[in-house]
Amino acid sequence: MLTFWKSTVGKKLLMAATGLMMIFFVLAHVLGNFTIYFGWINTYAEHLHALPALLWAFRLFMLAMLGLHVFLGIQLSWENRAARGEAYAMKATRRTTFAAKNMIWTGAVIGAFLIYHLLHFTVQVIQPEFAARANLDAAGHPDVFRMLVLSFQSLPMAALYVLAMIALLLHLTHGIQSFFQTFGLSNDNTLPVTQKTGTVMAALLFIGYISVPIFILIGLLSV
Ligand code: HEM
Repeated sequence: MLTFWKSTVGKKLLMAATGLMMIFFVLAHVLGNFTIYFGWINTYAEHLHALPALLWAFRLFMLAMLGLHVFLGIQLSWENRAARGEAYAMKATRRTTFAAKNMIWTGAVIGAFLIYHLLHFTVQVIQPEFAARANLDAAGHPDVFRMLVLSFQSLPMAALYVLAMIALLLHLTHGIQSFFQTFGLSNDNTLPVTQKTGTVMAALLFIGYISVPIFILIGLLSV
């Protein structure tokens, strides 16, 4: 059994399964961010923290998913590189895309973004003067809305987030399509459909995420 998970197929299945968990997370997170448009983001954030034990169990689960995904991603990338080195007689004739070729790099950018983002909005040590926990709203909730608005009113900060979301867009464009392929849900006939599904889903997530910093930057959301 263990040898199966150590095989390339086993690793790809685990990559796809852990990737799917993270897709669910980014989907849920973007929907959570949308509460900003209804004036509920502080209440929403308060509810997220209402059950600390559950929150920490979820965080540890997601950390395990991320750790496994990164570890296997690096391994598979090394294996691919070694295989390419050997395949001297077969020059790459397969059609590939910029997103597919750079999964390891877009993944690394997302990883670096994630560390920055957690320090920024969760630990709140970047721009501590805007920290939600230090500024309560009228209802006594940490003012996440104010923290986001004051942060993204700065062009460099908004630009940093938009650039990171471009890496997410590229990573998911190939990642989602690759997920269908790994689970055998894609063949020669359905490939164009699964490719389009990956691109459309990634683009919708991209637009959803960048809408918050952009709306704040152009003054459509303000304190
Ligand atoms: C413009 C885009 C984004 C905005 C505005 C945003 C906003 C936020 C905010 C306000 C929080 C803190 C919520 C709270 O605890 O009160 C947060 C937490 C978090 N965000 Fe984001 N986020 C963005 C993109 C992303 C992306 C793309 C990812 C993943 C790749 C991500 C992963 C996380 C994680 C893991 C947390 C910590 C959740 C926890 O407390 O356990 N975020 N985000």
